Amino acid sequence: MIKENHSLKAYNSFGIDVSARYFVEITKVAQLKVLLESDLFKYNARLILGGGSNVLLTKDFPGLVLKLSIRGISIEKEAADFVWLKAMAGEVWHDVVQYSLKNGLGGLENLSLIPGQVGAAPMQNIGAYGVELESVFDHLEAIEISSAEIKKFHKDDCAFGYRESVFKNIYKDKFIIVSVVFKLSKSQDQVNITYGAIRDVLNEKGITKPDAKAVSDAVIAIRQSKLPNPKELGNAGSFFKNPVIEKQQLERLKADYPEIPSYDLGNDQFKVPAGWLIEQCGWKGKVVGNTGSHKRQALVLVNYGNATGKEIKTLADEIRKSVYDKFGIKITPEVNII
Ligand code: FAD
Ligand code: EPU
Repeated sequence: MIKENHSLKAYNSFGIDVSARYFVEITKVAQLKVLLESDLFKYNARLILGGGSNVLLTKDFPGLVLKLSIRGISIEKEAADFVWLKAMAGEVWHDVVQYSLKNGLGGLENLSLIPGQVGAAPMQNIGAYGVELESVFDHLEAIEISSAEIKKFHKDDCAFGYRESVFKNIYKDKFIIVSVVFKLSKSQDQVNITYGAIRDVLNEKGITKPDAKAVSDAVIAIRQSKLPNPKELGNAGSFFKNPVIEKQQLERLKADYPEIPSYDLGNDQFKVPAGWLIEQCGWKGKVVGNTGSHKRQALVLVNYGNATGKEIKTLADEIRKSVYDKFGIKITPEVNII
């Protein structure tokens, strides 16, 4: 059923109260195909929404908003050591992680508690605590908007990078992802604990041989300790990506800021935490009108209740400028600004 002038407040984790000229919730692939052929779809701007946890809505949307709620989890195939688990785009991401853990599968545990839905996960190749989606991704199916045909994308077709994929670049607004297949291990003992904070939590608990469930529990504890829950305080996680700079620039910065944190990516490239840069510019915990930078994680911008998307965008622009003025580093939004 098409709704008109429908509020999007409940559909974005910033809790921004703008409306959609037209709004429809899609629960079946067949329904989506019919919609693609309609005049309403063809002659309006469109916005696909999953959980709305990576968007900043800055104005009323003048066209059609499609909220994807196609559900379903199934086993596509099985081999001696692996299971290919298929999840439809409208499944809640963390529900799929929990489903995999309960069914003895390993691979998704480091990505526990990331908000949002399955369909958006490949968009920015979600990542956390030492693992990115691409490490467990097998393929996805997406509907091509121009032809209404289902196309299959394997890992090599997706050009996954740090918070990047073809769906954010060359195929932006060209496909609607309808399902994703993950290749998961039948063993829950081969875990990734490269991220220091995970090891710290496991050590505190005296766990020496962690399984996937123990890693998931550790990740959940870390996330709950520093990231605000969008249900309590509107936010979209990290607002900016962590910038990557050249070794030369890092060396120059070290002369003035010897304590600058950085991660060596190889090839003389270093990732610098944007949260640190923003904190150094004095933004951490600062409240600006209805918005601000969070007190425990400077990279997370929050809505204290009645912020507009424009207010948050203005704050983000000021933060970007101050980071550039102080460090000469350009930080770019991770959040999709609409
Ligand atoms: P949405 O916000 O609904 O959509 C995001 C983008 O994808 C939009 O451009 C939308 O148009 C498009 N889109 C959505 N679904 C589809 C589809 N099926 N087909 C085509 N396009 C689509 N991200 C991380 O990577 N790592 C983290 O650790 C992390 N932590 C977070 C913590 C918090 C507290 C919050 C609020 C967010 C965090 N995020 C993190 C960001 C966010 O959870 C992810 O980007 C997530 O994948 C977004 O899913 P969504 O369904 O909410 O997407
Ligand atoms: N830091 C500060 N001050 C802050 C925040 C961070 O100095 O207020 C510095 C510290 O040096 C800290 C470092 O930044 O050690 C890294 O911080 P953290 O471990 O919190 O991770 P992050 O780099 O800020 C990234 C992702 C998160 C992901 C975590 C864990 C990006 C843009 N963000 O954050 O993803 O959950 O690592 O892997 O890459 C998201 O994408 O929305 C998101 C939350």
